[in-house]
Amino acid sequence: MKLAVVGAGYVGLTTSACLAELGHSVTCVDSDASRIAILQGGGVPIYEEGLHELMQKNRAAGRLTFSADLRPAAGHADAIFLAVGTPSRPDGDIDLSHIETAARQLARDIRHDAVLIIKSTVVAGTARNLGRLVARERGGDAVSVASNPEFLREGTAIADFMTADRIVAGADDDLGADRLRRIYAPLRARDIPYLEMSTADAEMVKYAANAFLALKLGFINNVADLCESTGGDIRNVVSGIGLDRRIGPSFLSPGPGYGGSCFPKDTRAFAALGKRAGARQWLVERLIEDNEARKRKLAQRIIDDMGKGGRPRRVAVLGLAFKSGTDDVRESAALTIIPLLQASGAIVHAHDPRASRAAAEFLPGVRFSDDCYHACGDVDAAVVLTEWDEYRHLDLRRLASVMRGRLLFDFRNILDPAEVSRHGFRYRPIGHST
Ligand code: UGA
Repeated sequence: MKLAVVGAGYVGLTTSACLAELGHSVTCVDSDASRIAILQGGGVPIYEEGLHELMQKNRAAGRLTFSADLRPAAGHADAIFLAVGTPSRPDGDIDLSHIETAARQLARDIRHDAVLIIKSTVVAGTARNLGRLVARERGGDAVSVASNPEFLREGTAIADFMTADRIVAGADDDLGADRLRRIYAPLRARDIPYLEMSTADAEMVKYAANAFLALKLGFINNVADLCESTGGDIRNVVSGIGLDRRIGPSFLSPGPGYGGSCFPKDTRAFAALGKRAGARQWLVERLIEDNEARKRKLAQRIIDDMGKGGRPRRVAVLGLAFKSGTDDVRESAALTIIPLLQASGAIVHAHDPRASRAAAEFLPGVRFSDDCYHACGDVDAAVVLTEWDEYRHLDLRRLASVMRGRLLFDFRNILDPAEVSRHGFRYRPIGHST
């Protein structure tokens, strides 16, 4: 099938490459001509494990092309995926202007039997509203608008697409439902559960899934706090509850609070929808506050534990990305914690294997280093904020030899407490005192 994907961001690029891999002929379009030029030259403007290779393979096979020209690409397509950004508005609701602009631009050029498929995360009712907008632009000639939310995690997006837990296909007419079935036929043949429902329900699935996962994280972070206060060990509690099949072991690692481009934005939109619809989502509203407070509380913990001295404290932050496997720093704990450390008078050094460049823009005054031992040179304390493998395998002897102090915060619980203590560190993990 001939497909167009509008938006060459994280979701658009991954979706384009994976749809091409399924055998479709895909044109990925973006209005940012410089981004398209990079892609046409064989480059990839984001880091995602395996994406470069998958794009190269499908470009070479002639199944994946890039264009800055929306209208011809959309005009030839059997289906057009909209994968443009839906940022937060100040009131927490999402801003649909990018999606509406894209729909307006292509409304007159798409074939009457083409299907517009919303991939971007949008609140329930958006597909139906977009259908009305497109029909108006076309002088009353309606086209089918479907909803096909993505459940990709950054860092494992390709595997998440190819071996998805489920595919959610939202359509309000036979044309949309049939087109989605045909697009995903190769994955349906691999027995991936394929759920058909209305567009509004598909849109709600996406928000409910992210809100639920975020609640799971908020809950385990609260239990970790409780373990700290009562002398318990969150690791035992996680093993104990995770084996209950109704709870499950995943998404139970306590940390510095969730970040990224999805959970913070989607929980805010979910709460805003609840307010607007008269069905307040109190749990999620409370979670949003808790998650922000958590980052501030952990910054204060570092400041308190370092204490005051005659000279300014120095601290090395290891990990700026909101999680490992990505160069994305959106709403990462580092962006809250580091400015608070600086405001307390500390000098902050930082290292991240991938995300320093993206973080530099938001973190003035930070001394970035390409080498984590260099970043830890002469510091009073080091703080692991992202669970990169490189930090799991820190050479603790070397770390001890370069640091001035011996305070080690592990906000991802990835270090071996016995090893850390053996090298003379004061160890500060999350949810246990070892
Ligand atoms: C999330 C969802 O997991 C995807 O299913 C969804 O498609 C995506 O949002 C989206 O809406 O596009 P992502 O933001 O890439 O994916 O990252 P996650 O792996 O879910 O992590 C989110 C945050 O939770 C990170 O800050 C991570 O460090 C944190 N986390 C995750 C924990 O602190 N503990 C855990 O056990 C798991």
